[in-house]
Amino acid sequence: MSEVCNVALLGQKFMGRAHSNAYQKAGRFFNLPRTPVMHTIAGLDLIALAPFADRWGWRNYSTTWKDVVKNPEIDLVDVSTPNYMHAEQALAALSAGKHVACEKPLAHTLRDARAMKNAALRARRCKTFVWYNFRRCPAAALAHRLVKEGRLGRVLHVRASYLQSWGGPETPLVWRFQKKYAGSGAHGDLNAHIVDLARFVTGQEIVEVCGAIAETFVPERPLPSAGRGPIPGAMPARRQMGKSDVDDCVLFLARFKDGAVGSFEASRVATGHLNNNSIELNGELGALRFSFEDMNVLWLFDSREPKQTAGWRRIVCTTAGEHPYAGAWWPEGCPIGYEHTFVNMVADMMAVLGGEEPTVPLPDFADAYETQRVLEAATLAAKHRAAVKLTEIK
Ligand SMILES: NC(=O)c1ccc[n+]([C@@H]2O[C@H](COP(=O)([O-])OP(=O)(O)OC[C@H]3O[C@@H](n4cnc5c(N)ncnc54)[C@H](O)[C@@H]3O)[C@@H](O)[C@H]2O)c1
Repeated sequence: MSEVCNVALLGQKFMGRAHSNAYQKAGRFFNLPRTPVMHTIAGLDLIALAPFADRWGWRNYSTTWKDVVKNPEIDLVDVSTPNYMHAEQALAALSAGKHVACEKPLAHTLRDARAMKNAALRARRCKTFVWYNFRRCPAAALAHRLVKEGRLGRVLHVRASYLQSWGGPETPLVWRFQKKYAGSGAHGDLNAHIVDLARFVTGQEIVEVCGAIAETFVPERPLPSAGRGPIPGAMPARRQMGKSDVDDCVLFLARFKDGAVGSFEASRVATGHLNNNSIELNGELGALRFSFEDMNVLWLFDSREPKQTAGWRRIVCTTAGEHPYAGAWWPEGCPIGYEHTFVNMVADMMAVLGGEEPTVPLPDFADAYETQRVLEAATLAAKHRAAVKLTEIK
């Protein structure tokens, strides 16, 4: 067995489940130079922690993350808490000499993100990772490779959108709708993913945000404890409402370093879309497009093919040896799903911690900070109704 990597996971709900599953599965499907060991799960809800630890295979559980990150047995701290906690927890872990894997967005403010980037640069022996997991869809990873090989020639257009519809007026005021906890709404949640994906697939940085719109369609939401329904026979209780102070959608236009132009759109109220994370690139020699709702597929158009038979080619990215990550999974033609992106990410993190190369590049804090600068530029562009150059965002 390879050298172990004792993991402490902070956060036990949505991403807590996704990451727990990934730590369990990675060593079963990949040959890893480091073996993740599920050492400790930390969360706030003591009642839920014991059954969670039992169900997912964590050896210990705790409600005091500050003690957990200092435990000398821990090698990697995984920060999967709401955005406002990322900086405090990641900084504590780095100063205790731990490797850190942090959920996206890097932080809820640019200032916190900068502190994290700088601390990671200082902690030279510690590796940092950010869970931009969509890079690890085989089709998205293939897109990255094809662009790098020059298959599209010069990229002219980047068209990215991340559309969801769960954020209507009935959705309670959870932390995701409060600026002090989340930083922003659909922007930091969803634009963060597509800005990262666009930077990853094109290999180019965004140099200017040329204009942006941020809109809050639902300014008030029911408080999470409210809305359980009236007592039978009683008058319906008036629901207690609270203020939602984040965006429900943000759209912006951008320029890339090598001249490509881009559009980005993130929404939680895009009726008809559940989790539609899509990107299309048009280059001088070809085009490609990817949508997470059909995540095993990459579409490729090669403009050098004879016009008679030219067209979009549907590539099912499940062939071992040809498509990134496919060799670790099932026979050709057997698709993978959402959870596999996290397993692929754990495999790549263990590769890096074991001194090997990841299948495709992993974002660290410095890389994720570049995404955060773009988000900040778009926020300012929307606020001031003006273009913002990335050189203005330090
Ligand atoms: N990569 C992705 O695709 C993806 C998807 C969803 C969420 N996320 C990110 O993951 C993070 C968590 O989101 P989620 O959906 O899992 O949220 P969630 O609300 O489902 O879970 C948050 C967890 O954090 C715990 N927590 C909160 N404060 C804590 C503290 N002080 N100490 C210890 N634990 C604490 C809560 O108990 C809970 O278990 C966010 O940053 C979010 O943006 C990423």
